[in-house]
Amino acid sequence: MIHVGDRLWLLTTPSSSYAVRLGDDDVPRCVHWGRPLTLDQARTLPAGREELPGEGGERFGVAGLQIRYADGVRGVDWRHLGHQVGEDGLVLRFADRHHPLEITLHYRVPPGGDAVERRTVLRNAGATPITVLRCDSAAWSVPARDDYRLSHVTGAWGAEFRLGRARVAPAETVLTSRRGHSGHHANPWLAVDAGDATEDAGEVWSTALAWSGSWRVTLERDQDDRVAWSGGFGHEGVTWRLGPGESLETPVFTGVYAPDGFGGASHRWHDHIRAHVLPDANRTRPVIYNSWEATGFDVTESQQMELAERAAELGVELFVVDDAWFGARTSDRAGLGDWWPNPERFPDGLKPLIDHVTGLGMRFGLWVEPESVNRDSDLYRAHPEWVLGQAHRRATEVRDQLLLDFSRPDVAEWAHAWLDDLVSGHDIAFLKWDMNRPFTEAGDDTWVPFVRNVYDVIDRLRAAHPDLLIEGCASGGGRADLGMLARTDQIWTSDNTDAAQRVAIQHGYGQIYPACTMGAWVTDSPNALTGRRTPVRFRFHVAMSGALGIGGDLRHWSGDDLREAALLVETYKRIRPIVHGGRMDRLGPCAVQYTRGDQVVVFVWRPSALEPATAPVRPRGLEPGAVYRDEDTGAIHHGAVLMSHGLPRPLPFDALSELTRLTRVG
Ligand code: DGJ
Repeated sequence: MIHVGDRLWLLTTPSSSYAVRLGDDDVPRCVHWGRPLTLDQARTLPAGREELPGEGGERFGVAGLQIRYADGVRGVDWRHLGHQVGEDGLVLRFADRHHPLEITLHYRVPPGGDAVERRTVLRNAGATPITVLRCDSAAWSVPARDDYRLSHVTGAWGAEFRLGRARVAPAETVLTSRRGHSGHHANPWLAVDAGDATEDAGEVWSTALAWSGSWRVTLERDQDDRVAWSGGFGHEGVTWRLGPGESLETPVFTGVYAPDGFGGASHRWHDHIRAHVLPDANRTRPVIYNSWEATGFDVTESQQMELAERAAELGVELFVVDDAWFGARTSDRAGLGDWWPNPERFPDGLKPLIDHVTGLGMRFGLWVEPESVNRDSDLYRAHPEWVLGQAHRRATEVRDQLLLDFSRPDVAEWAHAWLDDLVSGHDIAFLKWDMNRPFTEAGDDTWVPFVRNVYDVIDRLRAAHPDLLIEGCASGGGRADLGMLARTDQIWTSDNTDAAQRVAIQHGYGQIYPACTMGAWVTDSPNALTGRRTPVRFRFHVAMSGALGIGGDLRHWSGDDLREAALLVETYKRIRPIVHGGRMDRLGPCAVQYTRGDQVVVFVWRPSALEPATAPVRPRGLEPGAVYRDEDTGAIHHGAVLMSHGLPRPLPFDALSELTRLTRVG
């Protein structure tokens, strides 16, 4: 809901309000972001930090808007032009008092949602170019508190989404990706609290940027001990030339306020992403088999058929051939760009394999990496000029590959054409869209148009093939963000499939992203990356808390493991609607609960036997007066007792995991 006062606007969601006021100088400033207020209550508050601080005047903090006009003058002298309230939310329109720059600030509360979406649009209304040195989507500020704490996730390849919490340092903290994708190292999500929030209590202010390229969020704890942050696409030094009549539109920067702790913030993010970001959250995420860890670059038709047979026996619903099905791709040194079936590996094309897979009752999927090319490929030999690069600079190879300059319309058109042919010409239900290397030698004009064209190609594919499922991937979880999730169904969370390490990776991922998007495979023991041996049950219990896949070499699994796996897949299919559509509560770093209606699922893991799970795990949010039946033992439990004293089945000493399914029966 949006209320309009005298130069004051108030947006209200079920748990929060966001208020903006214009000062006498016409500069828009944040009045309030926090618990719900009425317009009258908001009126009593002084204006605080600027909504999009720039340069000039007594501004010495982070400048989210940096402009240089043709005459060399910098900054913005704000003049309010008007506002609109409509279907698209609140629009505040401004212009510079002297230069022909128009600035529009957009605010939107998605219908029924508990988040505020913000973005900025600049337009050059004059006849000479304007240089945009920085244009953030929005700046966010929180009310004054005694202290402030930052929560965010960091990591690396194979170790993504490691949750960290630290006191907000005085001065500035920069979270950024300079890689052209949103990155393994940091993720464009953060949360701030006063240092007193817990999983279920305390105020949490949290934001996420819907952008899959380079980005920067700068958090500032200023001289007055106030905290604010400004963020948007591009890292420092990426600039734009805004020609006459041209506009620059930033990605959406979404804010969520939770009065009820980190768990409350996660609930709202999951609900927001499922209801307002994902193309279709209600689509069933199939149980996937992906052959990458089993066969790597040594793909053959008969071996994939054999794996498909084993997978079908386990109850897998969709079989995916990963890398190395195309061109001369027998290692990572060749073939990227040549998107036709390798004639030696698939002499009659993909049809025999697809027919085999569908004949086994599964759907079929393929891996693609449309943004990359190997030098050793027909595509590169035909179009060396398509490679991302700069004159007189050596094009850097990463993983023996180059990037195509996707900002070029002809490159994007070529990619769309072959992808569309591939999906139209075959019975393909799923694509895993990978991106295995960062940008290098990219010019100013590349960073943003590249990502926009990637979005455009995926959007066009989805529009033409509405049943196609797409998994986003960048060497694991290097491109997990609201921009990618707006056009994919799930994310490949990490190449680290060691269940013991995965618990922490998933703990971080789930802070913002919902379980239905969290691709999670069960692979071999010992694990290919870490060498760790773990029981098949533990590996399943970890992966079943996301979007389950299997990625091990099933040809070598024991009969016992295969039998147990089939039973666990069956159980997963029963709990899938609860895990994917329910409310997620973290019951600690190694336990998670999903609740949907009368049904409750709790996973408890013990990733290391050195850390015995001594304290009983206590479910949250049950009806204290209700009784619950344990679906495996038939035992009946009282809600109040479960919440006070925990689950009655502690982990046996030799078990690494437990799954408890409860149904409310009275
Ligand atoms: C990186 C991905 O994260 C892996 O799952 C796999 O698809 C490889 N690329 C294939 O090259």
